[in-house]
Amino acid sequence: MRTAAVALLLLLCCFAFAGGAAVWGQEGGRAMAAVEVDASWRFPSQRLRDAYVALQTWKQRAIFSDPKGLTADWIGPGVCNYTGVFCAPLPSSPGELSVAGIDLNHGDIAGYLPPELGLLADLALLHLNSNRFCGLVPDALRRLRLLHELDLSNNRFVGAFPAVVLDLPALRFLDLRYNDFEGGVPRELFDRPLDAIFLNHNRLRFSLPDNFGNSPVSVIVLADNHFGGCLPASLGNMSDTLNEILLINNGLSSCLPPEVGLLREVTVFDVSHNALAGPLPQELAGMRSVEQLDVAHNLLSGAVPDAVCGLPRLKNFTFAYNFFTGEPPSCARVVPADGGDRRNCLPNRPAQRVPQQCAAFYARPPVDCAAFQCKPFVPPPPPPPPAYPGPLPPVYPMPYASPPPPAHYR
Ligand SMILES: *[C@@H]1O[C@H](CO)[C@@H](O)[C@H](O)[C@H]1NC(C)=O
Ligand SMILES: *[C@@H]1O[C@H](CO)[C@@H](O)[C@H](O)[C@H]1NC(C)=O
Ligand SMILES: *[C@@H]1O[C@H](CO)[C@@H](O)[C@H](O)[C@H]1NC(C)=O
Repeated sequence: MRTAAVALLLLLCCFAFAGGAAVWGQEGGRAMAAVEVDASWRFPSQRLRDAYVALQTWKQRAIFSDPKGLTADWIGPGVCNYTGVFCAPLPSSPGELSVAGIDLNHGDIAGYLPPELGLLADLALLHLNSNRFCGLVPDALRRLRLLHELDLSNNRFVGAFPAVVLDLPALRFLDLRYNDFEGGVPRELFDRPLDAIFLNHNRLRFSLPDNFGNSPVSVIVLADNHFGGCLPASLGNMSDTLNEILLINNGLSSCLPPEVGLLREVTVFDVSHNALAGPLPQELAGMRSVEQLDVAHNLLSGAVPDAVCGLPRLKNFTFAYNFFTGEPPSCARVVPADGGDRRNCLPNRPAQRVPQQCAAFYARPPVDCAAFQCKPFVPPPPPPPPAYPGPLPPVYPMPYASPPPPAHYR
């Protein structure tokens, strides 16, 4: 019933351009009649003329509702004066202006992204969060070779993960959270030089691939999808770069790999609401920068290592809803008093699981972490020594190896 309603809404949202469906397959969407350009207008450059065509096609053909009137002043050839449109001198030709940024955040605009946006060839920032854009992310965005930040969060985009983002050489910040993207996520995403990835609250479904640790991100948020599988040990490879990782509610089912302890720069580590099993590895004490640590709502067991609660920066360590049996006194400083350790199997602590539940859990054989068959982390080998370059040149006496003494010492 609910699915049907969602489908109907999407249909209504996207109905208005269903007639142009043939456009999708064609780069640049030349099939859709481009907007007219007044022949009397003189644009400072072809780039600004292209930008006019892109923005007017968007406004006139692909925006159906703009309750805050952000595009009301998108009139005439002066695109650099349009609300939400920012021009900057071209890096390659500083005397020439081009459209470098579009920021329509919180616009509540309904519509879709026409392929003509690919004409904005110099765009570095595209910020469209909190609007009602729907449909697919056009492949024509591939032309945005300078695009550095793409924020499509909190819209109604659908379809497969927009693979076009993998083709953007300058992209560093990717925010697709709160949309309806579905299906898998290409593993190539983790080989891209991205600094931030936000995919939370979509309908994505995949196992975190073993190249996860190749990603140089400082922030990654994958909460509320359906990933499942292993928490990849390769994240040990992110030790120099990773600051925040949130993998909340993703169906992860493995042990916490000891490599998590290599994440010495991480300040926020949240793997709550998964099915992680086994003990908290002693190595976790290597997270010397961690401030927020949340492993609540998993199947973790055994004693909480003393050294983890003793981590110097730790402010909030929450491990409620597991099966821990031991909590060292050092935890009192960092575990929120209002139930940060509730619903475990801790003796002498309030609000624990009933003894029968703990007994039943511990009557089962202990977790065999190897049984999850997660890929091991093999640290990258040291670079090979330089190849022998062939016979070395003959070594001559080096008369100038040290400068001659200053004249007055002679
Ligand atoms: C933008 O607006 C300013 C004044 O508001 C005006 O002087 C300038 O000519 C306009 N630029 C374009 C390209 O229309
Ligand atoms: C670690 O990351 C580098 C790239 O940053 C990659 O070349 C290497 O294969 C990764 N190693 C593992 C074991 O993931
Ligand atoms: C601790 O962190 C959890 C989320 O991980 C949050 O819900 C809670 O409010 C925080 N408590 C304190 C005291 O900061």
